[in-house]
Amino acid sequence: MDQAASSNRSIGTVAMRWQGVRLELLDQRLLPDQEQWLSLDSAVEVANAIRDMVVRGAPAIGISAAYGVVLAARHAPQEEWVDEIKRAIDVLAESRPTAVNLFWALEKMRSVLASCDTLESAISALEQAAVAIHEDDLAANLAMADHALAHMNLDSPVSVLTHCNTGALATGGYGTALGVVRRLNEARLLTNAFADETRPWLQGSRLTAWELARDGIPVTLNADSAAAAILASGKVSWVIVGADRITANGDVANKIGTYSLAVLARHHGVGFMVVAPASTVDMALSSGKEIPIEEREGTELRQVRSVPMAPEGVAVFNPVFDVTPADLVDVIVTEKGVISRPNAASMARLFV
Ligand code: MRU
Repeated sequence: MDQAASSNRSIGTVAMRWQGVRLELLDQRLLPDQEQWLSLDSAVEVANAIRDMVVRGAPAIGISAAYGVVLAARHAPQEEWVDEIKRAIDVLAESRPTAVNLFWALEKMRSVLASCDTLESAISALEQAAVAIHEDDLAANLAMADHALAHMNLDSPVSVLTHCNTGALATGGYGTALGVVRRLNEARLLTNAFADETRPWLQGSRLTAWELARDGIPVTLNADSAAAAILASGKVSWVIVGADRITANGDVANKIGTYSLAVLARHHGVGFMVVAPASTVDMALSSGKEIPIEEREGTELRQVRSVPMAPEGVAVFNPVFDVTPADLVDVIVTEKGVISRPNAASMARLFV
């Protein structure tokens, strides 16, 4: 953790704080105008916070869910404690469907639970496991930033374009795609990060622009629909995004709008990089067609913070992720290494 701790010093925010008896989450629904921390002390509260987007971003969801299991163990009765904790794991697994990090973290917690024979030992082992998931994610972020910079092999500063929020707010504390942006800036290799607004939930404008500006990293906010013009202008060398699930053939599910960026990047000869920890890789699914894509409430499009933006009751289609086919991806960066032009064979070499 030494390297992680020292790099973390320049980061102005975190998404979560584990306090031993409770989980504190920065309420991301209220950013950037309010910084309010919520204090949760049950697995159900954590599941609701994930569903309601208090905390979001694939790795952060997995880490929070792991802490939710610890809270379930702390409140479990002496009789039937195993069943009670298993029920909590099931409740947490129902919170959101697309990011595989959630299920990956819960599986880890389930196997730790299976190795415990008393409630006391389970509480302690589950807490250790959750903290390790959190710390390992931060370490993975830092390793990915190193791998990405080595791959980019730059000798002068560049501008990049990113989508959604993949930073400290979405991870164990540094960021995946935004970790690469941070590292470019630390290496004085970043001219500017264009941040897609990311309709409809506005992760780009409300979170990414806030997180980067707060840390003094050059950022320019753009409407999602400006991305084509920005790429056509030749100002951007790389599109850098995160992922919620990467399948065995290299297909990538990420925030809605990512697929169109990949098409644009290929059309304009701009590199398209996906940065995600191994916990985002789902080798059990052979292609992106099998990924469950979350659809959220129509109100996310009809209203902005309760102000109507569309006729009341108008029909809405609101899928919040899309799948970018592997052949549009130039490189996948994970903490285990880099895969250029991913396909089933190159994915299997790194992940089986
Ligand atoms: O709906 P969200 O905000 O949870 O979606 C987040 C994303 O799509 C991110 O790009 C992805 O989870 C990677 S976060 C490091």
